[in-house]
Amino acid sequence: MSATKNILDTHKDFPTLKRMINGKPLVYFDNGATAQKPQLVIDRINDYYQNENANIHRGVHTLSQDATSAYEEARRKIQVLINAPLEEEVIFTKGTTDGINLIANGFSRGFLNSGDEVIISEMEHHSNIVPWQMACEYTGATLKVAPMNDEGELIFEAFEALLSAKTKLVAITHVSNTLGTINPAKDIVRVAHAKGIPVLFDGAQSVQHMAIDVQDLDCEFYVFGGHKMFGPTGIGVLYGKKEWLDKLPPYQGGGDMIKTVSFEKTTYNDLPYKFEAGTPNIAGGIGLGAAVDYLNTIDWNEVHTHEQGLLKYATEQILQIEGIKIIGTAKNKAGVLSFVHDKAHHYDIGTILDQLGIAIRTGHHCTEPLMHRCKITGTARASFAFYNTKEEIDVFIAALKRALKMLL
Ligand code: ALA
Repeated sequence: MSATKNILDTHKDFPTLKRMINGKPLVYFDNGATAQKPQLVIDRINDYYQNENANIHRGVHTLSQDATSAYEEARRKIQVLINAPLEEEVIFTKGTTDGINLIANGFSRGFLNSGDEVIISEMEHHSNIVPWQMACEYTGATLKVAPMNDEGELIFEAFEALLSAKTKLVAITHVSNTLGTINPAKDIVRVAHAKGIPVLFDGAQSVQHMAIDVQDLDCEFYVFGGHKMFGPTGIGVLYGKKEWLDKLPPYQGGGDMIKTVSFEKTTYNDLPYKFEAGTPNIAGGIGLGAAVDYLNTIDWNEVHTHEQGLLKYATEQILQIEGIKIIGTAKNKAGVLSFVHDKAHHYDIGTILDQLGIAIRTGHHCTEPLMHRCKITGTARASFAFYNTKEEIDVFIAALKRALKMLL
């Protein structure tokens, strides 16, 4: 579909953005936590429950067939969006965390052994740390952590030096939720593949900022959630190369993931159903398909230019405020601005900004090891999406100055 929408016209497509908060127009800068939903997505979910509600893959009746078609059509839309070679390489999950757990669980059942290693990085979200710690605990494998520099960039040579015959997987974030750092995904794959090591990317924070092409990246696994790409919560995607998905064991047992069941033996279904036990989040899948329809009306180059403009402007403005330090100053960054103040606590800043109608996130952002690395307890984080505007940054900066005046 050709790009049609001017990025500056997108704000009005998101009903939540029209809300007043504490008497002020909402400025929503918490897109890293979840993005808002366009009317199109809300209407599609509503329409499913109003007109099509039925279980999928199970009924001969019209409603079930309609719901099945809509759900499978959503899978095909995702396949095209991320340029996956095969439809069955797109597995619906509950979200990014679920996708990583699926792979970690599979690896811990026959693909990791004592003495093996899994490599992550210092900037990972808990969801790309804990499942691997659990897998290592079960199997006796070791978790290795690639370091970053003080700007929040992966120290590539140190990462590369960790790769060895013992390495069974590299699992790394594409974009850091806390720092905004965009990791050099293709270089990571290149050096890992040179040693025959598969790569998983946590794409939770990238899918709202950039076009993803899994064939171009050539990674074995790419996981993301729907809600940060303007779709519903409770639905996500695991892309995996077929050769890997074929050999990994199923994650959960139950309906839909089987071919035949007897008390003696069960045979498993083909991809993608082998990994989709039980009644799935049907409305979520269909809603995610609608989010893809929306994304197909925007131009990712425009998104990039616009968000980089917002980030640059916000960075320049915030650095003029005394006592502010930005956490995460990588050269290659998505629209994420984490900061601390030398006297005011991030939680107090966030609370006062909320009083002024501005939503940001505060805390450790589920990256406690990263906080330890930076010797801080948390940050205040403004995270931008394409529907945000320069005027909203002006409101945010003015409110931040006011908040600091109240706190100091
Ligand atoms: N991981 C999400 C965030 O960064 C929730 O806010």
